[in-house]
Amino acid sequence: MWTLARECGLDLNSSYAYLMYASDFAQTCRLAVLDGEPVGYVLGYRPPERSSHLFIWQVGVSDRARGRGVAGRMLHDLLDTLTDVDVLEATVEETNAASRALFARVARERGGDLAWTRGVTAADFPDDHPGEPLLEITGFRAR
Ligand SMILES: CC(C)(COP(=O)(O)OP(=O)(O)OC[C@H]1O[C@@H](n2cnc3c(N)ncnc32)[C@H](O)[C@@H]1OP(=O)(O)O)[C@@H](O)C(=O)NCCC(=O)NCCS
Repeated sequence: MWTLARECGLDLNSSYAYLMYASDFAQTCRLAVLDGEPVGYVLGYRPPERSSHLFIWQVGVSDRARGRGVAGRMLHDLLDTLTDVDVLEATVEETNAASRALFARVARERGGDLAWTRGVTAADFPDDHPGEPLLEITGFRAR
């Protein structure tokens, strides 16, 4: 996951953080494998104060596997497995068209509603990170 995050140009957490996710948050993470090689991952967790929500922290798919629905499959698999989750949350930069299309598609495919709120603003970040509006998908159904 650390290698993929770097390859995908995502905010790179420490390698130790990914190990913690892989061990302690495995139920809410996914790894996609193609020909024996990891090509995509999702880091998610259930916020302790909103335990029926699933927060997607990072999703990345390597160049060679993009555009084939890999990211969508990982998100659907999480929702298929975590049947008591009723809200899916993520924050996505305004300019990230692929990621926005991804979540819109998942919402559409499950008949859910997608709504945006302010999320994390640029001023909240200590560095020059752009703002990350928050999306919430609600009212989705099992497939
Ligand atoms: C976002 C990302 C994970 C999507 O992975 P993927 O496996 O290619 O996604 P899917 O094949 O499931 O496609 C999802 C949607 O994105 C669209 N899409 C893919 N690349 C796109 C692009 N460059 N611009 C606009 N839309 C794009 C697809 O057309 C599809 O939408 P549609 O079904 O309405 O046509 C991948 O592009 C990626 O890793 N990007 C870099 C890391 C990143 O930005 N992660 C998200 C941070 S929140």
